[in-house]
Amino acid sequence: MDQTLTIALSKGRILKDTLPLLKAAGIEPAEDIFKSRKLIFETNIPGVNLVIIRATDVPAYVELGAADLGVSGKDVLMEHGGEGMYELLDLDIARCKLMTAGKDPVEPEGRLRVATKFVNVTKRYYAEQGRQVDIIKLYGAMELAPIMGLADRIVDIVDTGNTLRANGLQPLEEIAYVSSRLVAGTSAYKNKHHMIQPIIEKLNKAVEAAK
Ligand code: ADP
Ligand code: PRP
Ligand code: MG
Repeated sequence: MDQTLTIALSKGRILKDTLPLLKAAGIEPAEDIFKSRKLIFETNIPGVNLVIIRATDVPAYVELGAADLGVSGKDVLMEHGGEGMYELLDLDIARCKLMTAGKDPVEPEGRLRVATKFVNVTKRYYAEQGRQVDIIKLYGAMELAPIMGLADRIVDIVDTGNTLRANGLQPLEEIAYVSSRLVAGTSAYKNKHHMIQPIIEKLNKAVEAAK
């Protein structure tokens, strides 16, 4: 029986909230992740490894079975589509909202131009409303697009609203509530259930205790 387990963690802002939960679940990296340039870390449990990857890349690793478990924002999972994996647990960290925002709630005439890195989510959101929009794919700093006249709306993460305010934009419609989730690849969930189930239970307790 395969006794190894690879957990893909999103680097960036999710990581520092993920590590205490893993610790409470009995999993600790063998060395300080933040002081190393390594991408793969052994843990205190033989066979259990942590891989540190870009937040948006986690679903690909889990879907294709390169990682067994993953920690990923709901926004990233929605954009990916979530094929090939099960969402096991809401970790209740990195809470925020996916929203539309703009300079002015009044819509311009003609087709709405929407700038976002969440192209699939945005297409689905406006399609559900029966609206045709022009989507402009960006990779960051979406808030610039309406200021520069590139787009009428953005679809982006909003937490405190500080970034929108600082750039003269208003939050408009809420598309989804976002927090980070524990996911498992469908075949890992089946084949490594004996290793995954105790981790889910301990993580669940840690999440409840943190509430
Ligand atoms: P990226 O470089 O892909 O933007 P981040 O570390 O900024 O990576 O974001 C990772 C995840 O954290 C996002 O997918 C989202 O779920 C969540 N997130 C992003 N921005 C915020 C925020 N301002 N407040 C809370 N959670 C956020
Ligand atoms: C995220 C998001 C918004 C901001 C929202 O950006 O894309 O710009 O946080 O948070 P707020 O409502 O509390 O201001 P991030 O800091 O992750 O920058 P990046 O993803 O463009 O690197
Ligand atoms: Mg970010």
